[in-house]
Amino acid sequence: MTATPIDGKAFAAGLRERIAEHTAAMKERGITPGLAVVLVGEDPASQVYVRSKGKQTRETGMNSFEHRLPAETPEAELLALVEQLNEDPAVNGILVQLPLPDHMDEARVTNAIRPEKDVDGFHILNVGRLATGQKAMVPCTPLGSLMLLRDRLGSLSGKNALVIGRSNIVGKPMAQLLLRDSATVTIAHSRTQNLPELCRTADIVIAAVGRAHFVKGDWIKPGATVIDVGINRTDDGLVGDVDFAEAAQVAGAITPVPGGVGPMTIACLLANTLTATARANG
Ligand code: GUN
Repeated sequence: MTATPIDGKAFAAGLRERIAEHTAAMKERGITPGLAVVLVGEDPASQVYVRSKGKQTRETGMNSFEHRLPAETPEAELLALVEQLNEDPAVNGILVQLPLPDHMDEARVTNAIRPEKDVDGFHILNVGRLATGQKAMVPCTPLGSLMLLRDRLGSLSGKNALVIGRSNIVGKPMAQLLLRDSATVTIAHSRTQNLPELCRTADIVIAAVGRAHFVKGDWIKPGATVIDVGINRTDDGLVGDVDFAEAAQVAGAITPVPGGVGPMTIACLLANTLTATARANG
């Protein structure tokens, strides 16, 4: 059996088209959604992400505000910038690119963003709202992964879903979203025992561990849907957390890397910015 590739690139392009249409309609009412992205330091991967975020924001017709601060910026200065963006009516969404330099407290910075403008969904209030079924800003990578899963499977109700990875950015919110869709959710991590056996019981596998080719083909239940969130730079270029060549022989459907979940993340960021703008303008 050969898995159907899940084309996140095409799905994201369609989503961006719909966002551009909504943005154009808002602009006719005199409202232009604005996204502010803050990058502290010179992490090369972060620079690439921030550049693409700015480009896609502008292509969708939204305003993009980019703020670059040197790595040695005092935390108080970053917090002052966040406060200025909180108060700026032209800014509907604020994203502070992670990771931050070691002298900064990521939780303090994240929680300084006004929750209505927290398009990353990392503010403690949005985390709590998602966990309790209230209207929340939802983190972009899990949201994009959920959209691909729903598109492929329809209802997720009762399906066994295994999330490998327990990060605040992907693993935990992904588990919350799957639970909200009535999947039976297991979260695995570095201390999990018998991971290959556990994985073989999963109808849905979300791999978010950040280790190249960590998930092997013989861990996959025949016909399962595999979402690979990993983006690992290796000598062979960008590869996912799943051994694609092996897993594609067994799975029913699988996201490639690149071209799977990656493009969905920025599209969902733009969707969240649009949502934040709509909510701010009644
Ligand atoms: N670093 C890696 N992924 C993300 C993300 O989704 N949002 C932010 N702010 N930083 C990240």
